[in-house]
Amino acid sequence: MNEKEAAERIKQLREEINYHNYRYYVLNDPVISDAEYDRLFRELVSLEEKFPHLVTPDSPTQRVGAQPLDEFKKARHREPMLSLDDAFNHEEVMEFDRRIKRQLGLSENADIEYTVEPKFDGASIELVYEKGVLQIAITRGDGIEGEDVTPNARTIRSIPLRLLHQDNVPVPPRVDVRGEIIMTKEEFARVNLEKEERGEPLFANPRNAAAGSLRQLDPRVTASRRLDMFAWGVGYFEGIKFKSHSEIIEHLNRWGFKIPPLFRVASNIHEVLEHLRYLEDQRHALEFEIDGAVIKVNDLELQRRLGWKTRSPRWAVAYKFPPEQATTRIKDIIVSVGRLGTLTPVAILEPVEVGGVTVSRATLHNIDEVRRKDVRVGDYVFVHRAGDVIPEIVKVIPEKRTGKEKIFEMPGECPVCNSKVYRPEGEVAYYCPNISCPAQIKERIYHFASRGAMNIEGLGKKLVDQLVDKGLIREIADIYYLKKPDIAALERMGEKSAENLMRAIERSKKVPLSRFLYALGIRHVGEYIAKLLARYFKDIEELKKAKEEELLEIEGIGPEVAQSIVRFFSNEENLRSIERMFAAGVSPQSEKAIAEG
Ligand code: IVH
Repeated sequence: MNEKEAAERIKQLREEINYHNYRYYVLNDPVISDAEYDRLFRELVSLEEKFPHLVTPDSPTQRVGAQPLDEFKKARHREPMLSLDDAFNHEEVMEFDRRIKRQLGLSENADIEYTVEPKFDGASIELVYEKGVLQIAITRGDGIEGEDVTPNARTIRSIPLRLLHQDNVPVPPRVDVRGEIIMTKEEFARVNLEKEERGEPLFANPRNAAAGSLRQLDPRVTASRRLDMFAWGVGYFEGIKFKSHSEIIEHLNRWGFKIPPLFRVASNIHEVLEHLRYLEDQRHALEFEIDGAVIKVNDLELQRRLGWKTRSPRWAVAYKFPPEQATTRIKDIIVSVGRLGTLTPVAILEPVEVGGVTVSRATLHNIDEVRRKDVRVGDYVFVHRAGDVIPEIVKVIPEKRTGKEKIFEMPGECPVCNSKVYRPEGEVAYYCPNISCPAQIKERIYHFASRGAMNIEGLGKKLVDQLVDKGLIREIADIYYLKKPDIAALERMGEKSAENLMRAIERSKKVPLSRFLYALGIRHVGEYIAKLLARYFKDIEELKKAKEEELLEIEGIGPEVAQSIVRFFSNEENLRSIERMFAAGVSPQSEKAIAEG
């Protein structure tokens, strides 16, 4: 291949690769396989190696590879990047609409066309394109002057190095594209996990993570984080005309940018409010964080007439959602016992408003998490709460430590029933082993009475709640000591239903051993394992005496299960409770006993 042919082929390959990048990274809809893409890419790399003087900065091969910088150079925005006024509720949005009509001399009932789009919670950036080629990427900075982060921006796959020429949309001699660099929630979690493993300080939220990753002196670090960019507007441009903001967005889309999802043109302020409600509703379904919505007058001629204040335009407003993150102090760390005996450390916080709700507790999940995040009593922390999820501690603020903070230790006993707690090998959680533990009792009784277990008809959730709340049941065995008048006196019960329940309880006494074992709710003993055990052991007495080694001989039973069974039968409370059931007439029959008998 001579040089002329190579130049021609290189041009063709770049166009193809740019298009496939766009399909993959922007549209999320590739049209060729990864292998085909790699083939094109390798062909381009090898041609550029043979003809190095044909390499240009806008080649798709030139995304990564720049050397670390000592510091960022400053760069000016051709047109200042200003900010937006905030609106915190629908009334303030209506006021924005009224003000605009007043200023334009329109009647109160006139309809103004607006656009509504998410307000990305990221780091703003300006990308200067000349003849379609990316020249420089500048952070917002103070709005007049920012930092030149071009080598870093080049590593972000959704930033075109060269604007696409599609659908006859012309590429202008110059356009300054503006948008937001963001990190998805998923990538944020991945990056923080990686940092935790390396013992590095965590990012407090995806916005800090995006901004921090963009402002790295070493572009290879930026490249190792999957950042994304959404374009929301333009600054300076020449050689092109736009009529409306929605037209700008369409152009950005054609040129190969990601544009705001859920973007909508609203015919009047009522449709704006409707879309705001929709966006707020969809907020958690998006894969990245948004902190509100931006409402803009669509018509650029109207925008021009409305003009600017010192720091913000009169034609746009940012509608802010309640923030989902706040800082507060940990007053104490307590341990809560779950319905199945799991012990969870919980931070007791100085009450703080997060996402429109006052939060005074946050889960710390387990002791490993407490250690990894190095959370101590007395620490100042970032708390995050999204939608209905349980509030979480994101990270501590070590700068605020006084030295008086206390390290938390897991208690040796269950805080509810004082049983000695245990942590199964290879698991992160601690458990309370006592089936009569008041923290677990309701859940255990639901399970015990349920259909696959003892099948006590009529003993449903509502009734169990009442029985436990009234103190008639403190442990499972108490079911077999209930008295008819006590039951009849309960809400929504009477003579008849009490009698039915007594009969169902009586019937449950003659139960196959496998069901009884399942009903006990031994960890890891589901219906299948219970059957294996009932086939092997004649009765509970035999099973009680079994050592781990013997249990391991049964095909289908592994070390985790064996350990859990032995632990269950070594708990005094559990043995006593079973004895009381037997004393009341419960007599499980094993398949083996039946066969032998
Ligand atoms: S339009 C004149 N649209 O919010 C300013 N800004 O508080 C026009 N932002 O600095 C801004 N998403 O970085 C606009 N869809 C969006 C946005 C957005 C996030 C940021 C932007 C700006 C800040 C204003």
